[in-house]
Amino acid sequence: MKLIELRKELKDLYCQHEKDSADVDFIVSEVLNVPRTELTLIEDIDDMTEQTIREYATIRLDTDIPIDKLFKKAYFYGMTFYIDENVLSPRQDSEVVVDTTLKYINEKGYKSCIDLCTGSGCLAIAIKKNSDIEMLATDISNKALQIAKKNAKINKVNVEFLKSDMFDKVDGKFDLIVSNPPYIATDEIEDLDKEVKDYDPILALDGGDMGLKFFNDIHNEARKHLNDGGMLILEIGYNQKQPIISLFNDFNFVESVLDLNGIDRVLVFTK
Ligand SMILES: C[S@@+](CC[C@H](N)C(=O)[O-])C[C@H]1O[C@@H](n2cnc3c(N)ncnc32)[C@H](O)[C@@H]1O
Repeated sequence: MKLIELRKELKDLYCQHEKDSADVDFIVSEVLNVPRTELTLIEDIDDMTEQTIREYATIRLDTDIPIDKLFKKAYFYGMTFYIDENVLSPRQDSEVVVDTTLKYINEKGYKSCIDLCTGSGCLAIAIKKNSDIEMLATDISNKALQIAKKNAKINKVNVEFLKSDMFDKVDGKFDLIVSNPPYIATDEIEDLDKEVKDYDPILALDGGDMGLKFFNDIHNEARKHLNDGGMLILEIGYNQKQPIISLFNDFNFVESVLDLNGIDRVLVFTK
């Protein structure tokens, strides 16, 4: 079959169902392993490939499963990560956590870092891939840790992993504490998009009352685990800047960094 005809047919189908027709090209690109910008260069596809594209396109249409969960593959900071239903899909907004952390590693010469709530390992692995820092990554979920270990292998970085309920099993001090903890308020979970609510694990989303539970936990223990002159780099929700700055009022506030949508996404504090 001509690829151009299949793409048109599926895009029309997506439009009829009021779904984003751009998803068709994401799916085709994954199946063919060809960048979306190069799809027009392909003329004919064999029956098997056509069948595979149709199957993925139908699953996406029927279930709303996010494309990265459909292919168990996510792209973050120019790297590829294995993901499944046990971890949060890495968000592009979180890349600003990596940028900010690398900026301070370069400026201050930091040597050690802990990534709390590592999930797929995307933050720890992207930071480690782009620096010489010694990295420990923790999570409470065994399944998430297995995935994070797999991702460290895929991306050929050396990160130590530890199962821990926040700082529970963590010994020692670090120059940097980085975290993207669960930060959705419990009473807002129901209102999330189906793609998030149904496919990201609740353990990765639910941040308790006002989404602040894990920031409270970090605040209670951070001083004990941060070297003098060290930094805390926290990803936050869209409405959490002021409450978290107030919570960390015994630390020095350094800056708030905006994400690509201009929303305060990362807060930086020093001890
Ligand atoms: C928002 S996800 C962040 C994942 C990853 N760091 C990222 O940026 O994509 C939060 C992670 O916190 C973990 N988590 C939830 N409760 C925890 C706890 N009490 N202690 C440690 N990790 C926890 C979840 O398993 C999940 O992987």
